[in-house]
Amino acid sequence: MTATTTDQLTEQVLAAYASTPGPRLRQLLASLIGHLHAFAAETQLTREEWLAGIEFLTATGHKCDSERQEFVLLSDVLGFSSLIETINAAGGATESTVLGPFYVPGAPVRAMGEQIGRPEDGSPALVRGRVTGPKGEPLDGATLDIWQTAGNGLYDTQDPQQPRFNLRGVFVTGPDGAYQFRTVRPVSYPVPTDGPVGSLLRASGRHNWRAAHIHAIVSAPGYRPVTTHIFDADNPYLDSDTVFGVKDSLVRQFRPPGPGDPPDVSYVTDMDFVLTPQEGG
Ligand SMILES: [Fe+2]
Repeated sequence: MTATTTDQLTEQVLAAYASTPGPRLRQLLASLIGHLHAFAAETQLTREEWLAGIEFLTATGHKCDSERQEFVLLSDVLGFSSLIETINAAGGATESTVLGPFYVPGAPVRAMGEQIGRPEDGSPALVRGRVTGPKGEPLDGATLDIWQTAGNGLYDTQDPQQPRFNLRGVFVTGPDGAYQFRTVRPVSYPVPTDGPVGSLLRASGRHNWRAAHIHAIVSAPGYRPVTTHIFDADNPYLDSDTVFGVKDSLVRQFRPPGPGDPPDVSYVTDMDFVLTPQEGG
């Protein structure tokens, strides 16, 4: 039967995919086709707009390489990454937020308390806390994979002046679940606008600044890993983060050291992480 209306065409396409063997893939395809068709029908999408969309996605792919992930950035500025994190949040655990496009696996394992950057990277800060389970039990052998920009707002992968894995490091807790590392106070930085995502932000009149943050992926054997940030409470972009990543529970003060704090830093911040057990574990 030949489809004559948009509804008939959508039904015809859905029927063609209705026998997809995998139940989850079948569900995802049916929903994707339904929403995609509804989007075009609702907006009466023109051929030129369809082609512009194809060209935009093609350019997004061409901008990707081993160290630049324009599709992740696109997902981020559309709030889609943050939505996925919210949907998949584990109750009782530290809130998660976007991974972002600048994570690099394989950062060096560092000694507890070690400085992950260089003196010229910014104001020295100590970040410390504990990794625990939901009842406050300390997690032995928990891993914190940490990364952030230097004071110039650039990650090592964007800045030829920084050595590889500058301001990146992996820390492993002992039986007390405690961790600490020295870094620099995070700064706001603009997400890159030299690609298609930049064009999108300009066309929509949005700024491209991220609220200052330190990235962390916290994991432990038998527990669900959490991909999250530590945000600086004094940052002006907390309410308009370009990737919609800020959650109130992740905002911390970077305060001057007080009695009993190490004298070799300008700021101290405390951040505990809570992980929840793997399902079925
Ligand atoms: Fe970041």
